[in-house]
Amino acid sequence: MEDNMSLEIKNICCIGAGYVGGPTMAVIANKCPSIKVTVVDINERKIANWNSNDLTKLPVFEPGLDLIIENCRNKNLFFSTNLQDAIANADMIFISVNTPTKTRGVGAGKASDLKWVEESARKVVKYAKGKTIVVEKSTIPVRTAEAIKLILDTSNKSDEYKQEFSVLSNPEFLSEGNAIRDLEKPDRVLIGGDDKKSVKSLVDIYKRWVSPEKILCTNIWSSELSKLAANAFLAQKISSINAISGLCEKSGANIKEVAKAIGMDSRIGSQFLNAGPGFGGSCFKKDILNLIYLSEFYKLPEVAEYWEKVLEINNWQQNRIIEKIVSTLFGTLSGKKITILGFSFKANTNDTRESPSIKICKDLLREGANLSIYDPKVDSEQIERELNSKNLENLSKEINGSWEFNRSIYDAVEDSLGIVVLTEWDEFKSINWNKVSKLSNDPIWLFDTRNICNVNEASRNNIMVWSIGL
Ligand code: UDX
Ligand code: UDX
Repeated sequence: MEDNMSLEIKNICCIGAGYVGGPTMAVIANKCPSIKVTVVDINERKIANWNSNDLTKLPVFEPGLDLIIENCRNKNLFFSTNLQDAIANADMIFISVNTPTKTRGVGAGKASDLKWVEESARKVVKYAKGKTIVVEKSTIPVRTAEAIKLILDTSNKSDEYKQEFSVLSNPEFLSEGNAIRDLEKPDRVLIGGDDKKSVKSLVDIYKRWVSPEKILCTNIWSSELSKLAANAFLAQKISSINAISGLCEKSGANIKEVAKAIGMDSRIGSQFLNAGPGFGGSCFKKDILNLIYLSEFYKLPEVAEYWEKVLEINNWQQNRIIEKIVSTLFGTLSGKKITILGFSFKANTNDTRESPSIKICKDLLREGANLSIYDPKVDSEQIERELNSKNLENLSKEINGSWEFNRSIYDAVEDSLGIVVLTEWDEFKSINWNKVSKLSNDPIWLFDTRNICNVNEASRNNIMVWSIGL
């Protein structure tokens, strides 16, 4: 009987107040008013912004998030830099820190860097008291739970705090821009672990708003691998449709018609069939690299090569967009003004990690273009950071072009020769092309890499159009 009972969770701590930790904990707090949720982060500025009275300053932009924060903050949802107290008081600790791709050492360029996860586990050992359930929320390579367990096992169980740990895997499947909807109405919740009592404690939390048949319990390794595999399948679907978009352009087929025709087959499904400038975001590339690393580690080179192709097509798609822009504008961009509409990696988020806009802008700058960039949610400091990113090759010495930030579409397009739409923001669907045509004396090209613009209206206003896959 005792075995089936779960530990009642009264206090949750989440380490990492980023794109995953912030929204996930906000939804848990909103759905579970009796649980006190504390989100901690080493970044003081980020925590100050989570606590700001001005809700436009929240570090993460997600539709619907501000209302939840307003409702729960300082009632049962707290943002703090006091890791020690939050860990000491917690019955359950989510680890939601970033796990970037390693830049040096064994597995560099492919394996995930787990130093923050490790660091978090060490903090848990240092400060936890009593029975504590540790939940991996960060995307991590298969068998990371083992590493976390090893670190937790170094704790002195006979000490005054009577530490006892159990580790669960509970991968996030939220898609940025739709995070609140995905968290409130998930397709499934996946929980991996073999300690039944701890698993039940976490199931009991989700059961407050998710129907039980959608809560899937597996062994810990299946849960970890499912996360990587789900993202790899989604990314593969995008590379597949992007590969077909190239074929459409050569053969006279229309990618929108093809996507509709194949998507109506319920075995394929209509989602994730939008051709575009390639996938971005913090997960897809990193998770596929992880899968490649794992496949190589387990001596499965054919499997590694299979997933490598998904990344290759993604690069190819971006390169051919750049080549198209250069060749259309007569082989040179030197001194030409080009407008970039959209810098985030997808609509409805201010996240720019791995955004296709970064590579495309850098290559256009290398060609000598003068870029005029507009995005409704990304500010110029963030664009500056991405275009001069220290992790990438130092561009500043070699670039010939320049870039400026604009606060509206129409400021950005003035006197442009080319307009490149890179993110599918709603406001780009209803651009006033008549107004745009009057803002330039020269012929203007529109490069619609997301197939969202009213291209008939643009053509009627003498704007020349190139659309992906058409
Ligand atoms: C998520 C996943 O958790 C990660 O595995 C995946 O690779 C990317 O998506 P995300 O929430 O998007 O991470 O990352 P980010 O927005 O960078 O937030 C992580 C936060 O953890 C940062 O605010 C960082 O300051 C914080 N952090 C990091 C800590 O508080 N402590 C640390 O030791 C390290
Ligand atoms: C993804 C997964 O969807 C989510 O389940 C996981 O937990 C985290 O990673 P996210 O990266 O936030 O979420 O966004 P997603 O909607 O998956 O889009 C990823 C990229 O693919 C974006 O750059 C998007 O523009 C692109 N994309 C998506 C396409 O190019 N075409 C499509 O049809 C769909």
